[in-house]
Order: sequence, then structure tokens, then C-alpha cells
Amino acid sequence: MNPLTIAMPGNEQLSAALSDRLGCEMGRLDTRRFPDGETYLRFDSDPASRTVVIACTLAHPDDKFLPLVLAAAAARDLGASKVGLVAPYLAYMRQDRRFNSGEAITSRHVARLLSDAFDWLVTVDPHLHRYRALGEIYAIPTRAAHAAPLISQWIAANLASPFIIGPDSESEQWVAAVASGAAAPYCVLEKVRHGDRNVQIALKDLDAWKGRTAVLVDDIVSSGRTMIEAVRLLTSRGFVSPVCIAVHGVFADGSDALLVGAGARVVTTNSVPHATNAIDVGGLLASAVSELLAATS
Ligand code: R5P
Repeated sequence: MNPLTIAMPGNEQLSAALSDRLGCEMGRLDTRRFPDGETYLRFDSDPASRTVVIACTLAHPDDKFLPLVLAAAAARDLGASKVGLVAPYLAYMRQDRRFNSGEAITSRHVARLLSDAFDWLVTVDPHLHRYRALGEIYAIPTRAAHAAPLISQWIAANLASPFIIGPDSESEQWVAAVASGAAAPYCVLEKVRHGDRNVQIALKDLDAWKGRTAVLVDDIVSSGRTMIEAVRLLTSRGFVSPVCIAVHGVFADGSDALLVGAGARVVTTNSVPHATNAIDVGGLLASAVSELLAATS
């Protein structure tokens, strides 16, 4: 039977886009909170004997996580043959080691919980830094689509004479790929993180690229401190109106407005719905889902 896509709250556009591209039915899930904050769920569309594809991007994940795994469990209970997750932004990837004694390595714990709840997972550019692949922590088939070619296309179509900058060494994997696709030079800065909202970036000699459009590229803008500090340094060296491109605009702490206030133009993919979305990852997601549907049917 045709797969059924289901949107967790806030993911209706994503679910509709997947349904359109995959030619499958968009189902309905009623969900609300009981007065005590517990979650009520009811499938309006029958998942019995079908693959259910649940769409749920995981920015600000803690409120979303329990309803999500409950929806997956309910789909199975109602007879779904398989339950897949499309999470364009996959949360909890950055705590990938025990930085201080006693800390939880939450990337592993979340991976185990999602692997228990779902049969497969599709995402876009997960934060793979100390892990080389999702398979190191996920026990289910996964596909990680890459937004770099789309970001390169956007840069080539919209910016004159770009010069790509990664704010830290972790961004090099994205920056190198984006720069290569946009046929632009790149460099990577050095960042030291002193705390959740305290980063220090050392600026290199960028005089060789004066007159070019400075384009900062990173996987995530969360607190925004990384991008804000990089923008501040770039503008102090005469690079006016740098462009900040992130795959995932999580924008904690109102960092979207702070970045604009710092003089930046902000562009993101639609992995997390936001006014800055200018790059559509819907096609990447649908292709990855098609592959997994074929591989797991
Ligand atoms: C970390 O290395 C990532 O690539 C990002 O640079 C980082 O997560 C951004 O976080 P924030 O916006 O809180 O500085």
C-alpha cells in the first residue's frame, strides 16, 4: 500500500511537500495537550499495513520528542508495517563526547531512543564531528542528505564575487564543499568556545579577499554567538554586510534578530521553518525517503 505521511505539529508543509514529491497520501494526526500537559494523539488516517512517514524537524526538541515517539508507537500499535522519521534537523548531535566527567553523551542516548521508536531515519547534514557517520550511533538505516550543492547554487545565483568563510574548524566540511561548488575561495577561522554563549574567534589576515562578498557558512546557528562574533570581526575589517548561511537556523535567544542587528544578511535552508528560509531541501529529503522505502520494503 501507498505510504502515509504524517506531520507532527508545525511540520505540515514538510509533510505536504513529501506527499507531493513521493506521490503518497498525507494523513492526519490529531494532537493536543491535556490540561496536565500530557499528550493526546489520534490517527485520523488508518496506518494499518502501511509505511508511515512521520515528519518532525527537531529544533528545540525537548517538547517535541515525547509526542513524536508516542506517535511512532501508536502507528505501530495501529498496525503500521514500518514507521520512518524525516527530521530535517536532527537535534542532540553536538554532545558527542563526555567533555567533563559525569556528563551524559546525549547524542548516543537520543540515537538509541529514536532507533527503538523508528525503522529508519532521514535527515539533512547532521552535526557529524567526532562521529564519522550516523551508523556509529543509530541502529536503524539512515540517510543524511547534504545541502552543500544547494547552498553553492544559491550563492552562485545570488552573490557577486563570494568569499566563503567557516567560523571554526568544525565547519570546514561544509565550507570546503560549498566553496568548491560555487567556485569560490574559502578560509576557516579558529574558534574557542568558553561556554554556551561565550565564543572567541581569531581572525586571519583576509586582506587578499578585500572587495569580495564575505559569506559565512556553518551547519547550525543556535545561540548565534559563533556567527555574531564572526560578523563582528569581519565588519571591523571592512567587510560590509556579510552574508550568514546556515543549513539549520535554530535561532535560540533571538539570535536571528541579533545577527541582522550586527549587520548580516541571514539565509537558511527550510530544514527548520523560518523567515530566512531561501534554500529548499524538500527534493533532497524526498530522494532519501524514496531510497529508504525501496530498501526497507
Ligand atoms: C559547532 O561547531 C557548530 O558547527 C556551530 O558552529 C555551533 O553549533 C553554533 O552554535 P552557536 O550558534 O550557539 O554559536
